Amino acid sequence: MDEIILTQPDDWHVHLRDGERLATTVPYSARSFGRAIVMPNLHPPVTTTRQALAYRDRILRHVPPGNAFEPLMTLYLTEMTTGREIEHAAAAAIAGVKLYPARATTHSEAGVSDLRRCDEALACMQEQHLPLLIHGEAITPGIDIFDRETVFLERELGPLLQRYPRLKIVLEHITTAAAVEFVRQAPPRLAATITAHHLLLNRNDLLLGGLRPHYYCLPVLKRESDREALLEAASSGSPKFFLGTDSAPHAQSAKENACGCAGIFTAPAALELYAEAFEQSGRLSHLEGFASHFGADFYGLPRNSTTVRLRRESWSLPAAYPYGPDVVVPLRATSTLRWRLLC
Ligand code: DOR
Ligand code: ZN
Repeated sequence: MDEIILTQPDDWHVHLRDGERLATTVPYSARSFGRAIVMPNLHPPVTTTRQALAYRDRILRHVPPGNAFEPLMTLYLTEMTTGREIEHAAAAAIAGVKLYPARATTHSEAGVSDLRRCDEALACMQEQHLPLLIHGEAITPGIDIFDRETVFLERELGPLLQRYPRLKIVLEHITTAAAVEFVRQAPPRLAATITAHHLLLNRNDLLLGGLRPHYYCLPVLKRESDREALLEAASSGSPKFFLGTDSAPHAQSAKENACGCAGIFTAPAALELYAEAFEQSGRLSHLEGFASHFGADFYGLPRNSTTVRLRRESWSLPAAYPYGPDVVVPLRATSTLRWRLLC
């Protein structure tokens, strides 16, 4: 198979940042994806519908002419989020509300320390059919960074599913075999996104033979056996697993730093990277469900009606892209990619 035609895919988890950086991020996401769920972890965070709609306008100004890219906006859940705010969000077609456990990751300081303080918002989300999107890592001090996802499943997600029996939840960017199993066993209202980098890389890639800051993200890369379980799940044809790049650019100077930021910029070749992973699994024919169908179905949105073409072709990305006053290094900069999206 040297060419694949897919229903236009969507990205169900992306960081587009703000200001002049949108000039870099938006065109790359719009190149591959019809829609994208845009993360609200700006500084300060997007906590109100008003802020989300203003952010959406700023994003739309950077969509290339003739491109129909649609940003789907999210709110950042805090312990102060009211039921009224959730009602506004639902009325304004906000697509979801993001839970960042406080201090778990980039710009999560305003996040949630104790989920029980969010009962009003969560109950209202359940009524309004507004999905909760979760960064699933436990934040209790002392938990090993490699165990944070698994501990979150037991201590937080299990009880949450019971407390809100009709709440739709997306467990974002899962990284472990344990999370795959948890999602499989849960009712259909729980789904998960999987990134291209977690399908292609493991923690040896991050740490062996020198520390690779451009492979550092959160949740951190795990064992090879976890990567294999993720690839199996993504390519299994189960509608519970769908595409979310978590493309998360940081300036090169913030990555190549004594205290480097977490985040991997995959947007410039996102679909190509997924195709490479699916080919590895021998299930390229399952890429379309994962990339183009299951996310839309879960969110209750129509599947896209246009198509895209991927061709087997060697090409490479540049070493870096301009990024506001800085530059940003994409995943797989200058190395050969095996698939190319025809634009
Ligand atoms: O690696 C990550 N980067 N993980 C996250 O959860 C946040 C993201 C970011 O915003 O940089
Ligand atoms: Zn993210």
